[in-house]
Amino acid sequence: MNPLEQAGIPVEEQFRSWSDLNVTPFDKDAVHPYTRTRVILMNGIEVESILFSHQFSRHTDDIDLKRALALSRRVEAQQQKAVNGLNPGDQTPLETTIGYEQVAVDLTAWLARHEPDPMLKQALDFALLEDFDHLYRYANLYELIDGKDAAALTDHLTEITPGRPTVLEHRHPHDEVRGHFESHTVDPLSRMHVMTIVAAEQQTMNFYMNHGTDWIEPIARGLYAEIALIEEQHVTHYESLLDPLDTWLRNWVFHEYNEVYLYWSMLQNEEDRRIARLWELNLDMEIGQLHAACEMLRRYEGVEPAELLPRELPATPVTFEPNKDYVREVLAAQTSLTADGLAYVDFLELPADHRSERYRSIVNAGGAPSELVIDENRARNGRDYRDETEGDHPVKALRQPVAASRR
Ligand SMILES: [Fe+2]
Ligand SMILES: [Fe+2]
Ligand SMILES: [Fe+2]
Ligand SMILES: [Fe+2]
Repeated sequence: MNPLEQAGIPVEEQFRSWSDLNVTPFDKDAVHPYTRTRVILMNGIEVESILFSHQFSRHTDDIDLKRALALSRRVEAQQQKAVNGLNPGDQTPLETTIGYEQVAVDLTAWLARHEPDPMLKQALDFALLEDFDHLYRYANLYELIDGKDAAALTDHLTEITPGRPTVLEHRHPHDEVRGHFESHTVDPLSRMHVMTIVAAEQQTMNFYMNHGTDWIEPIARGLYAEIALIEEQHVTHYESLLDPLDTWLRNWVFHEYNEVYLYWSMLQNEEDRRIARLWELNLDMEIGQLHAACEMLRRYEGVEPAELLPRELPATPVTFEPNKDYVREVLAAQTSLTADGLAYVDFLELPADHRSERYRSIVNAGGAPSELVIDENRARNGRDYRDETEGDHPVKALRQPVAASRR
């Protein structure tokens, strides 16, 4: 389908009432884990659309453009409420967090599997192993402080076991900046992959920035602070892949187009019919918002949007599905990778006085909460928490210590 040829809902007709926005949440015990991940992803996409629009507005002096942005942004803000409102109040922030990291694992792995550009695929694989490790650390925190089993949330669709250990993920900021794709040559699918993962990581960063203080337990507060800093790294890592030379107006069009693609994708896979209707409504709204952005692009840059956008949406919807074999392949091959400037290198290649080694020695002085949570859970239960559905860990050094391996 070509969204440029669809009518959608005109932006002026998109306002909804408070009762429309105050949606009934899903049942946290009955919801499919991938419905939860779709809600988390699309909330992050809406938050990015709002923040992008605010930044754009602060960088233009044109009153008509500011008004057009304000109009679209208001309905984006309404969409964000209707999507995020699906999360139930009895789902604790830690349970939501486990959902966030399940998003990060299965979204990143899916994007990497479908990414045509090897440079971008490598960037996705690299951070995949880090979010994969976060899921394991939070699952151990969940068992330690709530006495609960994270697999009841992930439903064994995503394995839970160590990735690149979080304590080793801390790198100097200069080792987090990557080279970018070129807007004129990039595959439109690649651009959307990067925009999607930037929004998802940014939302995770924001969530941990705000929820790290929901806890009394120092171990929980410490773990959120530590992983929040990795999400800051991930946003830096992924946003540096975008071509910074695209204009604000083009970026606006690309944002709306990506929202169209993603709501269309969510709709293809949603089994909850009530929530599918929300994806469908939002899809029609995004088509209307895309037309509004395209109109501004024509007026201010004299560019025909069809010249920038693909003729049709990608044939394959972005899909939440198990990626266990893929994640295991990447674990086996890339757990020992780190970054040195623009290059990915093995940890063994880093000199002892490398800036990232010095950075780690500062932040990890006195111990890392991501290690402490495992030590404490092992001390309590005689083993750490794992959900290895496909057998032993592919990296020998990361297997359960022998004395602790009987569960
Ligand atoms: Fe939106
Ligand atoms: Fe993460
Ligand atoms: Fe992340
Ligand atoms: Fe939008």
